[in-house]
Amino acid sequence: MKTTISKVGNFVGQEVTMGAWIANKRSSGKIAFLQLRDGTGFIQGVVIKAEVAEEIFLKAKNITQESSLYVTGTVREDDRAPSGYELTVTDVDIIHEATDYPITPKEHGTEFLMDHRHLWLRSKRQHATMKIRNEIIRATYEFFNQEGFVKIDPPILTGSAPEGTTELFHTKYFDEDAYLSQSGQLYMEAAAMAFGKVFSFGPTFRAEKSKTRRHLIEFWMIEPEMAFYQFNDNLQVQEQYVSHIVQAVLNNCSLELKTLERDLSKLTQIKAPFPRITYKDAIAFLHEQGFTDIKWGDDFGSPHETAIANSYEKPVFITHWPTSLKPFYMQPDENNPDVVLCADLIAPEGYGEIIGGSERIHDASLLEQRMKEHGLQQEAYEWYLHLRQYGSVPHSGFGLGLERTVAWLSGSEHVRETIPFPRLLNRLYP
Ligand code: 4AD
Ligand code: MG
Repeated sequence: MKTTISKVGNFVGQEVTMGAWIANKRSSGKIAFLQLRDGTGFIQGVVIKAEVAEEIFLKAKNITQESSLYVTGTVREDDRAPSGYELTVTDVDIIHEATDYPITPKEHGTEFLMDHRHLWLRSKRQHATMKIRNEIIRATYEFFNQEGFVKIDPPILTGSAPEGTTELFHTKYFDEDAYLSQSGQLYMEAAAMAFGKVFSFGPTFRAEKSKTRRHLIEFWMIEPEMAFYQFNDNLQVQEQYVSHIVQAVLNNCSLELKTLERDLSKLTQIKAPFPRITYKDAIAFLHEQGFTDIKWGDDFGSPHETAIANSYEKPVFITHWPTSLKPFYMQPDENNPDVVLCADLIAPEGYGEIIGGSERIHDASLLEQRMKEHGLQQEAYEWYLHLRQYGSVPHSGFGLGLERTVAWLSGSEHVRETIPFPRLLNRLYP
């Protein structure tokens, strides 16, 4: 019977064959332990000299790391095995012998591993991290479909800059200037006026010269946008969505979380509602914590975010930021126009901002005024202003950074390990 590692549980006591690679190997004169992987998981194959033909034992004993093979064996339940099963090998058919695989079981430096990212992806921790990423994506589609959102795909090549012009990747678009999208938001606003509740999921680009453990040049963002939703409605969607993906990862990635030695007690309590603190109160809190330099109007750095996050067990919304710190499209607070109706969601345990969102300005003249203040050329935004000229309604939305969310849930120190092929300040290879 041909099967995969993920399905061996259906064949206990039976003989199965699977295509696999050798992740690692140990052997003595009498027994060889093959750490097998096939993409769906990892399992140990045990080859006992006394029980197989001489030639099979020799093949198993001498097989090299990352060689590919068809392996046949009997599935046994084994409580000590992480997957719960082991394979008693009866036959080994080598497909391709790998020599001198660069990533050995010894320690390697990060730069070396990043240079070999195309191979590093095969290793256990990287595999677990990507499976968690995949589960977050799956649960994202599940949540927004359940809630009646329509998936809409905004363009990647654009002529406008939602988040400010300093971080844009410029390119030529025949005779015109174009930019790689830094956010699909403005297009999602148009989509919300056509479909009510929409979400997007796609790559975004920031030409930011930041070299922190939270910044990628190319990252993936989930951007929901909802017509007739105001500030508080928006926060409710966010806390429900984040709770949904955390619970999905807990339910469906227990093996991966175990491989990564993630502290589950920190994740099980992540359930809506999430705490809220205004920017103003956050400043006062930071002063109490000894960050005496920070003053009203300053942006928060990661030490500030971490100090705030550490006083909560759940993600925390920092709301009502100074207008001067935020993009042109955010709706001012009617009680205090110096602040906007926005929130950043800060993950626990120092993983930083995972969501930025706000209510959008829906008054045409205020929006025009803001665009002028921000030095934006009106021609490029003519279509965006139409949304306020033809049936304008209050609406809100947000963007969740996928990689920072993966980093948080998988317990990854750095976002570079949360995307298959990271684009970093000094890395475009492989
Ligand atoms: O806060 P940001 O810049 O918000 C927007 O782009 C809005 N237009 C979204 C919206 O309302 N539709 O980015 C949103 C999130 C951040 O909270 C962060 O998680 C992630 O995107 N992010 C990055 N992730 C990795 N590397 C970077 N350089 C990132 N910049 C933002
Ligand atoms: Mg932000």
